[in-house]
Amino acid sequence: MKNYKRLLSYIRPYLHKLFFAIVFIVLAASANLYLPWIIKDMIDEVLAEKNMMMLNIISVSIVVVFLFRGVFYYGQAYLVSYIGQRVIIDVREVLFRKFQRMPLSYFDRHQTGETMSYLTNDVNALQNALVDSLIEMTTEGSILIGSLGMMVYLDWKLSILTLVVIPVVGQAMKVFGRKIKVTGTVIQERLADITSLLQESISAIRVVKSFVREDYEIQRFCRQNELNFQAAMKNVQLKSLLTPTVEFLAAVAVTLIVWFGGYEVVNGDITAGALVAFLTYAVNLANPVKRLSRVYGNIQKAMAAVDRVFAVIDLEETVSNRPGAADLPAIQGHVTVKDVSFGYKEGVPALQHVSLEVQPGQMIAFVGPSGAGKSTIANLIPRFYDVSEGSILIDGHDIRDVTVESLRQQIGIVPQETMLFSSTVRENIRYGRLDATDEEVEAAAKAANADAFIREMPDGYDTQIGERGLNLSGGQRQRISIARAILKNPRILILDEATSALDTESEKVVQAALDKLMVGRTSFVIAHRLSTVFEANQIYVIDNGQIHEHGTHEELLEKGGLYSNLYHIQFGKA
Ligand SMILES: Nc1ncnc2c1ncn2[C@@H]1O[C@H](COP(=O)(O)OP(=O)(O)OP(=O)(O)O)[C@@H](O)[C@H]1O
Ligand SMILES: [Mg+2]
Repeated sequence: MKNYKRLLSYIRPYLHKLFFAIVFIVLAASANLYLPWIIKDMIDEVLAEKNMMMLNIISVSIVVVFLFRGVFYYGQAYLVSYIGQRVIIDVREVLFRKFQRMPLSYFDRHQTGETMSYLTNDVNALQNALVDSLIEMTTEGSILIGSLGMMVYLDWKLSILTLVVIPVVGQAMKVFGRKIKVTGTVIQERLADITSLLQESISAIRVVKSFVREDYEIQRFCRQNELNFQAAMKNVQLKSLLTPTVEFLAAVAVTLIVWFGGYEVVNGDITAGALVAFLTYAVNLANPVKRLSRVYGNIQKAMAAVDRVFAVIDLEETVSNRPGAADLPAIQGHVTVKDVSFGYKEGVPALQHVSLEVQPGQMIAFVGPSGAGKSTIANLIPRFYDVSEGSILIDGHDIRDVTVESLRQQIGIVPQETMLFSSTVRENIRYGRLDATDEEVEAAAKAANADAFIREMPDGYDTQIGERGLNLSGGQRQRISIARAILKNPRILILDEATSALDTESEKVVQAALDKLMVGRTSFVIAHRLSTVFEANQIYVIDNGQIHEHGTHEELLEKGGLYSNLYHIQFGKA
């Protein structure tokens, strides 16, 4: 219930609307209370007194009341849905903001489908809890209270009698109903016993016969059969006893009420019409009671979804700024990795004691087998994850001491898997820097060797791509992704196998674009194809989360280690 209160706190901005909604709901519900009231006038004035005027008044007022009821109903439905939808949209936004801020490690542990279901299914369940139950509770609540009020107003003595007698009968019905259910289960159990006994003795019939135990089995069966009969009889007995008892009790209750009401009419305390109206109100009580308990059940169900939603809202955003973290000033691009260890999971190290240093503008390369930890090093520099041990410094600033935003703003990443959004080519490139002009976007595309093929597309830079648009080839996608990074103009560049998915021809074009991009920037290049890293100032061979060896291409070849092995495999023994 704590979370339900919390959910209701989301309504706070719409309290004034809620006020009018409730007024409308109450007004619409009170129209329902008007009908029994008319019955009273119909009997007392029209039928008894032959009052023609009253008949006209009643007829007109029915039309008028139902007209207003329609208006109130509209107002109520509109306002409640408005509030409900607003709250849902607000909650959904809060959730979406939350997910945008969650660290990558959260998404490693949770599937996309799960995350999406929070935003869709759970939020919808929450809407049901909120909107539907709010309307029903208010409507049925006002009918309940209104009917009770009318009953008391019409005849308070009869009301007391009714309110004492009806719950007693109701309670009796409930107790008896439960008893019948219990004997029902006993019958079921006995029947199950018989079935298993049957199965056993028939499937074991060879054993039975070989031991000549037929009579013994028959006795056993008869005993069970008898037990079943007794249970069945007990149930029948109860049922045939209880049903008439309850009916009798109900009849006594109704008779009591009707007798006392009739007595009052005879006595002249109330009119005949008032009695009929009273009884109609009393019958009307049944529905709200039933519906309110159903609403309660629905709320219970929806609360599971509400709990899940709030559990997500309360999740901690682990990689976040230290208190008082300053922005990273404009950097040169001097990167120092100092004795860094890291694991995605406790006890499973992905990197161990990695140290390296890169001067501004240098290009370094990571090579090595799959799963060695190359991408992991690249993930640590923009703080997608925080190191477990050691530290990473950029221009002497520990990256954990500066704001994540200012750090990532100065790092450009061209990932292996290019993600493009369902939008135009232009907007996809502009994602790198939102305030870039069209000229800057096109200049970046030119630098990425993408301008020519973009211009050949149906709408040029305004062509829709992504899921609902044109599908681009892998090389084209990568060049758009490179243009995006160029536009950002970062000091540090991370290229994680940016050309791996390409054929030699497209690789040349993309590589040319990358070479342009890397000029004057500190670049980390991860590559399987060694041809792309010959030029690196320093090549690090990563194996098993550790730096196996490092040096320039020539130095490593001379060494004759892992790198030269890889080289000879890829290029043949030249
Ligand atoms: N998000 C993650 N959650 C858990 N473990 C991960 C995650 N990403 C990588 N790992 C594990 O960390 C280790 C290093 O992976 P990493 O992605 O750095 O390898 P890599 O050298 O980039 O390999 P590849 O050449 O295949 O891209 C692997 O054992 C991998 O299973
Ligand atoms: Mg990788």
